[in-house]
Amino acid sequence: MYNLVKKILFKYDPEEVHYKVMKWLTKAYNVGIGKRYLESNYSIKHSSLERKVFGITFKNPVGLAAGFDKDAKFIDELSCLGFGFIEIGTLTPRPQDGNEKPRLFRFPMDAAIINRMGFNNEGVDAAVLRLKQRKTNIIIGGNIGKNKSTPNEKAIEDYEYCFKKLFDVVDYFVVNVSSPNTPNLRELQEKEPLQALLTQLQNINLSYPNPKPILLKIAPDLTDSQLDDVIDIVTKTRLSGIVATNTTIVREGLSDIQLIERTGAGGVSGKPLKQRSTEIVRYISEKTKGTLPIIAVGGIFTPEDAKEKLDAGASLVQLYTGFIYQGPAIAKNICKSLIQF
Ligand SMILES: Cc1cc2nc3c(=O)[nH]c(=O)nc-3n(C[C@H](O)[C@H](O)[C@H](O)COP(=O)(O)O)c2cc1C
Repeated sequence: MYNLVKKILFKYDPEEVHYKVMKWLTKAYNVGIGKRYLESNYSIKHSSLERKVFGITFKNPVGLAAGFDKDAKFIDELSCLGFGFIEIGTLTPRPQDGNEKPRLFRFPMDAAIINRMGFNNEGVDAAVLRLKQRKTNIIIGGNIGKNKSTPNEKAIEDYEYCFKKLFDVVDYFVVNVSSPNTPNLRELQEKEPLQALLTQLQNINLSYPNPKPILLKIAPDLTDSQLDDVIDIVTKTRLSGIVATNTTIVREGLSDIQLIERTGAGGVSGKPLKQRSTEIVRYISEKTKGTLPIIAVGGIFTPEDAKEKLDAGASLVQLYTGFIYQGPAIAKNICKSLIQF
């Protein structure tokens, strides 16, 4: 059924389709028994799916990755689709439009997407208001970043602002220094700025009576020695884990050369990212002897893809591109096959 729907949807501009589909989902959710219908069709509950990670109990280990519901506009609706958690953001202190359109491109032959959205979002304050009004108690991750206009030397102030604003309305934090679509952002993954940023956020966090888990989201394009530095800093600053990975700037695994050229800059997600992101998960897990929780994200489409990440050492998984290509039943399908009888 979804294959037919997808055939039609894929004829239209990806960003327009995104908002149109979310409008339909909202309508379905709000109509009479809509919420119950969605839940019974797309969710699955089983005690063996439950995971306790960094002090939080997740009803299942399959989450919706950052970027899909940046502004926390559809939390109640999306929570009916079987996810164990939803990561909102990336949010920045001030609203910003993001890059010029078009900025989202499908690569159907390769089950991939290239995006250069550029942290388009309505600002953290708007998201806080929405999160206060949500009805569901699904676990929420708050993914935070900096405005494009904020120079890297002042980046800490932006992260700090978002952190404090979101503190009461999210369950865990993700510090995003790995998007390829904000100029120079990834420089914050380097040793000194990273150490300074994470130390500052953790100090603020520890000043609250009940600190929240903070995780770092990393790029798949880091070298082993850069990864070693990241692991060292994350351990020293006593972060709760790593989200691996963001999109890649590498074009390997994409076969439509003309489309690559026409598309231009951006990060690749989906199938071509799968192997590299699993390698990174395995590397971190081995280096930390499984002591550091990892949320694995990158190219998860099937239950086997999710199992690959969990076997490599992940505690939880997330997906975005798989949701676009496989449809609304993806979380349920993965969860179903993870149930241990
Ligand atoms: C259109 C789009 C927008 C994204 N926006 C964000 C974002 O704002 N913040 C972030 O940390 N990751 C963002 N991501 C990256 C995803 O969260 C995820 O790390 C990446 O897509 C790999 O997972 P996937 O292969 O399942 O899509 C975005 C991805 C896509 C496709």
